[in-house]
Amino acid sequence: MKTVDQYNFAGKKALIRVDFNVPLDKDFKITDDTRIRAVVPTINKILQDGGSVILMSHLGRPKTGSEEKYSLKHLVNHLSKTFNTDVKFADDCMSEKALHMAQDLEPGQILLLENLRFYKEEEQGDAEFARKLSRLGNVYVNDAFGTAHREHASTAVIARYFPNDRVCGYVMQAELDNARKVLDNVERPYTAIMGGAKISDKIMIIERLLDKVDNLIIGGGMAYTFAKAQGGDIGNSLLEADKMDLALTLIQKAKEKGVNLLLPQDSVIADAFSNDANVDLADNHHIPVNWMGLDIGPEAREAFETVIRNSKTILWNGPMGVFEMPNFSLGTKAVADAVVDATRNGAFSLIGGGDSAAAVNLFNYGDQVSYVSTGGGALLEYMEGKTLPGVHALETQTV
Ligand code: 3PG
Repeated sequence: MKTVDQYNFAGKKALIRVDFNVPLDKDFKITDDTRIRAVVPTINKILQDGGSVILMSHLGRPKTGSEEKYSLKHLVNHLSKTFNTDVKFADDCMSEKALHMAQDLEPGQILLLENLRFYKEEEQGDAEFARKLSRLGNVYVNDAFGTAHREHASTAVIARYFPNDRVCGYVMQAELDNARKVLDNVERPYTAIMGGAKISDKIMIIERLLDKVDNLIIGGGMAYTFAKAQGGDIGNSLLEADKMDLALTLIQKAKEKGVNLLLPQDSVIADAFSNDANVDLADNHHIPVNWMGLDIGPEAREAFETVIRNSKTILWNGPMGVFEMPNFSLGTKAVADAVVDATRNGAFSLIGGGDSAAAVNLFNYGDQVSYVSTGGGALLEYMEGKTLPGVHALETQTV
């Protein structure tokens, strides 16, 4: 795979697939620009070489052709400030107008295309759509790790039109390198921390991790399905009733494989899903009727922290509770503190994308862990051992 450092972009028009699927508030202001900041080094390298940049991305999951709230035009000002230049905007990706805007770019200039998903052909992986996009540049760079698990025109198909000029961006490279660090030749003890609402999102990764880790910590909403499956009373806590058998199977498998499986002994419970609700503590198997667990409790915090602090390799994906509400953030904060401490003591820590990355950023720990992934689903699929179409397309040499 050709890397950004192995390519001289002087005089080139670099067509870059980025993942600018960033959260926007109701006034279309970006609330977390991690994914934008992540690709700055790749873009700067191209500009410094004397190239120009054409950025293509999706934003959200638009259902119709051009929903205002999903327009990438909302990012133009932010990008212009980030790169200290007037970023140009093409209000589509395909027209002759967009082509001319790309052709007219001078070295050092940046053009942003409208949301790729305004065209159904993008998600269909349409070859003709990919070919038309390819006319806009003379080198293709993929730096959209977060979208590498999608087999779309701009991720998996377009590379075939750049047989000798397809390049792996810095973010993509760093994501793959760091993910490999928790897959092979890990330093032990190795602890995986899985949280979040649903077991169903994490089944495959949990099964794979059972062959790799020494400790598996399970917290967050998904822990209540385990508690219920073990015969506990969980009140109104989150439950995936159809996953209770699976939960028991995972407990059994962990035993057979000698993995130390830690489930929370206690919870912070509330009588409503609100930061203003009445709050109490309860044993995880004795949550009263009409109450729900919204965070791990103090005993669980202590047990989890001890294991994490003694680990040499840590993978964390998913929060321990509803950390966005201050009353239910202590569990996630305690885990974050322990991960930071372990990292200071020499552990390698990889934070999975999405909510756990948001939590780490909320506590301002982004630079105190080893690596925070920009990928959500993409990271999980990579960890599950699947081939990512966006990565495969960069590796394939055939036209
Ligand atoms: C993400 O946010 O995980 C990526 O941008 C992919 O988005 P998608 O799940 O809508 O394909």
